[in-house]
Amino acid sequence: MASLTIRKLDEGIKTYLRLRSAKNRRSVEEEVRVILGELIEGREEPLTPFSAPPAASTAPTPQRTGAVPEASVTLIIGGGIAAYKSLDLIRRLKERRIEVRCVLTTAAQQFVTPLAVSALSHERVYTDLFDPQSEFDAGHIRLARDCDMIVVAPATADLMAKMANGHADDLASAILLATNRKILLAPAMNPLMWNNAATRRNVAQLQRDGVVLVGPNSGEMAEAGEAGTGRMSEAIEITAAAERLLRPPVPRPLAGKRVLITAGPTHEPIDPVRYIANRSSGKQGFAIAAAAQAAGAEVILVSGPVDLNDPAGVTVKHVESARQMLEQVQASLPADIAIFAAAVADWRVVNEGEQKLKKSSAGMPPLQLVENPDILATISKLTDKRPGLVIGFAAETEHLVDNAKSKLVRKGCDWIVANDVSPATGVMGGDRNTVHLITRKDGEIAVDSWPVMTKEQVAIELVAHVAKSVTGKSLDDKALEPAS
Ligand code: C5P
Repeated sequence: MASLTIRKLDEGIKTYLRLRSAKNRRSVEEEVRVILGELIEGREEPLTPFSAPPAASTAPTPQRTGAVPEASVTLIIGGGIAAYKSLDLIRRLKERRIEVRCVLTTAAQQFVTPLAVSALSHERVYTDLFDPQSEFDAGHIRLARDCDMIVVAPATADLMAKMANGHADDLASAILLATNRKILLAPAMNPLMWNNAATRRNVAQLQRDGVVLVGPNSGEMAEAGEAGTGRMSEAIEITAAAERLLRPPVPRPLAGKRVLITAGPTHEPIDPVRYIANRSSGKQGFAIAAAAQAAGAEVILVSGPVDLNDPAGVTVKHVESARQMLEQVQASLPADIAIFAAAVADWRVVNEGEQKLKKSSAGMPPLQLVENPDILATISKLTDKRPGLVIGFAAETEHLVDNAKSKLVRKGCDWIVANDVSPATGVMGGDRNTVHLITRKDGEIAVDSWPVMTKEQVAIELVAHVAKSVTGKSLDDKALEPAS
């Protein structure tokens, strides 16, 4: 009779045999004999005596479908009252075609039962580091690695302290220490615990280690009468954060490029309380900074006084006057690309009063003006450190294209974005812009007129043109979602 070499069997069959023999506390050979005997007698056991974590595989990831990639997540549920929200989280992840295998800490089982978790995830639930069924072939290592990501929700103060310090004395902490996958934490705890110096240290350490946090949110606590920061994010927020992390990296055409942008008006002081200004809102320059950052560039934004939030991921240098703006622009060089969208005041007051000017019978004090440095022209004419592509803006109220063309030549920049700012257009301070992109290459000037767009669309279009010209790469729509 032929003898059977277990080693030569398919990986899947070997895993099944190892798990089944461990469960029945028999050797693999004995188990094979039992299976054959049962088959012959027509009473074989079902082929899945319990569901095992799938064996680590080198096979390519199956083709994923839908707006969000199908993926698998190991969800570690920590011991906190917010654990009830994790039941909803399982459901929402599965709705998005994300497989979920759950691990419950001992404390978590005080709040949700393995049965409920298993029923929702349609998977076996893991609770014990020393479970002979899953650990005979190092199941915690497979739970740590045979997934695309690990989500911890709720992430308790204790679990985060263990992670920050590399403990591995239970299944959850062992998985978190053994993984090389992305980790997403949804912290949940009392506000005093969240603000405790030890938790602050642990959170900072985890972030340095590359762990991503979602929440916690602020609001009322489960403890009567307590409120503050510490509520676990809602399942829908955690799912969105998980989807962001799971998304394949989007090509970022301006990656590795440094872009310097000016935006907003400048304020030119008359005395300590008065200044000369203009109506620029800074919206266009800020939108360009955000689009360049989303396209992967390192962005330095030198902004005059505006009423806008700093764009995420952008280094913003706030200034008041034209001279300060020039100083910060020069200090920010070298750059690959410079886009001067600021509405810099052309003149400043020579005799700026050190004290507030007083009304007097002699009438209005004379304001002697002097020309401000032209930042665009100064940088365009640099011999060393001149950015490879210098772009100016021309806000005109008449002869738009002709004026812009001569400005391009006079100032020595490569491109000019010309826009009509006559009061009737509502461009100054408004949300829309109608622009013409005037480019110069090898002495040839070309004019490209764009339809009316929002300032964000103008920014995206301009960044797409910049990317194409500087790197030859196109701007994928997805690249415009914020870089995470
Ligand atoms: O000469 P005008 O102000 O119309 O030029 C507009 C362009 O020049 C814009 O790109 C603006 O940011 C830039 N500029 C500058 N420094 C100045 C005046 C304008 O950088 N002092």
